Amino acid sequence: MITQIDHIGIAVSGLEQQIPFYRDILRFEFIGIEDVPEQKVRTAIFRIGETRIELLEPTSPGSPIAKFIEKRGEGLHHIAYRSDGIEKEIAFFKGKNISMIDELPRNGVHGSKIAFLHPKSSGKVLTEICQITGEMNE
Ligand code: CO
Repeated sequence: MITQIDHIGIAVSGLEQQIPFYRDILRFEFIGIEDVPEQKVRTAIFRIGETRIELLEPTSPGSPIAKFIEKRGEGLHHIAYRSDGIEKEIAFFKGKNISMIDELPRNGVHGSKIAFLHPKSSGKVLTEICQITGEMNE
């Protein structure tokens, strides 16, 4: 079951330039910076209520975020919905003929499991499903 918006991902060329807006102007709680080598991104995480904002900076020119910025510029990248059973969600989507970028969950930040739907199946809004694992609880 999908229970809430988990986070919103925003593509940025440089974390350091954008962090002050979220930390000092919007005054969201700054959780920290984390590397996700699998996705070739460095991410700055902010908490706002039960949701997070994740700034995504590419760490390699060929990475998905680098390509996104090249094509569409910086800005809104994806919306992530939290599920309590990501494998079941993927099976459900596939049963409804939804195209998945990830047919199997892969690792996100803090040991979370994530899977992206293909934008052609989600009205061009890049959509992520994620499941929090035990190690992520604060
Ligand atoms: Co995400």
